[in-house]
Amino acid sequence: MAQKHTKKIYLYTRFERLWHWFQSLMIILLIVTGFEVHGTYTLMGFETAVNIHNYMGLFWLGSFAFFAFWLMITGEWKQYIPTTRKLFDVIQYYMWGIFKGQAHPVQKSPGAKHNPLQRLAYLGISAMLLPIQMVTGLLYYLYNSFPGMSLAPLAVIHTLVAFLLVNFLIIHVYMTTTGHSLFSHISGMITGWEEIYDTTRIEEWETKATKKA
Ligand code: HEM
Repeated sequence: MAQKHTKKIYLYTRFERLWHWFQSLMIILLIVTGFEVHGTYTLMGFETAVNIHNYMGLFWLGSFAFFAFWLMITGEWKQYIPTTRKLFDVIQYYMWGIFKGQAHPVQKSPGAKHNPLQRLAYLGISAMLLPIQMVTGLLYYLYNSFPGMSLAPLAVIHTLVAFLLVNFLIIHVYMTTTGHSLFSHISGMITGWEEIYDTTRIEEWETKATKKA
């Protein structure tokens, strides 16, 4: 095994960490109440589930808009710009390399927190799936205000995206266990500091997506 030396780096600011856990909590609550509204199970009662789902959905919409504004003004949105450089190395690593103890092909740095696969996944989630879910949810909520609107496509898309988000969540939580140790990514997202291997060779472009404030 080539990976021996580790170092601690500061990756996530307090605001980013708070937002991450706050949004996770909101989405998990929305998933739990959403599937009850859908009729998949009975947990808290249909009416309570509808109320929590509606208020949480509206609150999520407002706070997400604030977070998107924060991404824009700090330049942190650049961390999500997709790239194919080293993308296939990373895919190969998660398919085979990781099970053979190979070094991760990309090293994290404060200027580039996400490897190429994470950039694609997080961009797809944050710029596509989440906004689609918010817009279809809002139109669903305002359905009575638009007499001509058809409910069926909204319901199908909203439910489909909910399944995709559950799918993302399962893969995402698995991926968080694949760092230097089982909990190194999780503790990075709690404290801001993450322990990483420092033996991977870094290329210049990897470290300068943006500067940390
Ligand atoms: C649906 C809910 C979730 C969404 C939408 C989500 C989204 C994200 C995003 C966009 C990032 C990148 C954050 C950034 O760089 O600022 C991230 C990172 C992370 N998330 Fe989540 N997340 C969710 C739930 C969770 C849960 C439940 C866990 C843990 C049990 C978790 C653990 C982590 C960790 C550890 C990282 C850092 C990954 C790394 O260091 O490479 N997330 N998440």
